[in-house]
Amino acid sequence: MTTIATDLALQMERVSKIYSVGDAQVVALDHVDLTVDADEIIALVGPSGSGKTTLCSIAGGLLTPTDGSVIVGGQDISRYSPKQLTRFRRESVGFVFQTVNLVPFLTARENLLVVDEIGPRTGRRARDRADQLLDELGLTDRSSNLPAQLSGGERQRVAIGRALMNEPDLVLFDEPTSALDTQLGDQVVNLIRHEMKSRGTAAIIVTHDDRITHYADRVARIVDGRISDPGARDD
Ligand SMILES: Nc1ncnc2c1ncn2[C@@H]1O[C@H](COP(=O)(O)OP(=O)(O)OP(=O)(O)O)[C@@H](O)[C@H]1O
Ligand SMILES: [Mg+2]
Repeated sequence: MTTIATDLALQMERVSKIYSVGDAQVVALDHVDLTVDADEIIALVGPSGSGKTTLCSIAGGLLTPTDGSVIVGGQDISRYSPKQLTRFRRESVGFVFQTVNLVPFLTARENLLVVDEIGPRTGRRARDRADQLLDELGLTDRSSNLPAQLSGGERQRVAIGRALMNEPDLVLFDEPTSALDTQLGDQVVNLIRHEMKSRGTAAIIVTHDDRITHYADRVARIVDGRISDPGARDD
């Protein structure tokens, strides 16, 4: 019986994920336990193929675990139906991936508002929030640009804004700085930190970037689908 602690952003208990490929089975996550406090930033590090993207996808309701329980902001999503998961994704989590998936024919501002069309905010409130986020992200004078008319760092900032539109409990970042040069990477790192801490939003950031592991509240290491010493502080 799982106790649901609502002061945690994420509580994963004995989560396993087995992918079937033809006759073969790949154990991507092997009984992972991970908790993230409501305002905690976790850096998730590990070699290629160790299960980082799988873990984020499960925490964000994009994939269902083979076994174990996943509780996000008090919601036990491990037994949600596909319909419940769709609703959960648009209302409770934000995603920022390495390759930014902005809608190419929408402006920066419209890329934030598109979240709203499927989410809980509507009309004026949504527009105000989009404008406030664009301002915080330093994008006000780029808000009418299409993604192709933005730099890599600006696109990444739009993606961060979009992930924050629905005021999520948890934001999942999968290598958010790996495609950026040093200077843009610095900007994006500082921005993520500022946005998460000023809102008290929890985050898991998959990264090899020392700047991020340095400022994270905790570093979780994953090898072969297992998290080593999930409670260890890195400082
Ligand atoms: N859809 C899938 N079907 C089958 N196997 C998969 C699938 N997705 C991932 N895997 C396998 O599961 C394991 C974990 O993959 P995952 O993408 O989570 O790793 P990762 O830590 O994110 O790696 P990287 O750092 O390269 O992005 C790998 O062995 C991978 O080959
Ligand atoms: Mg990955």
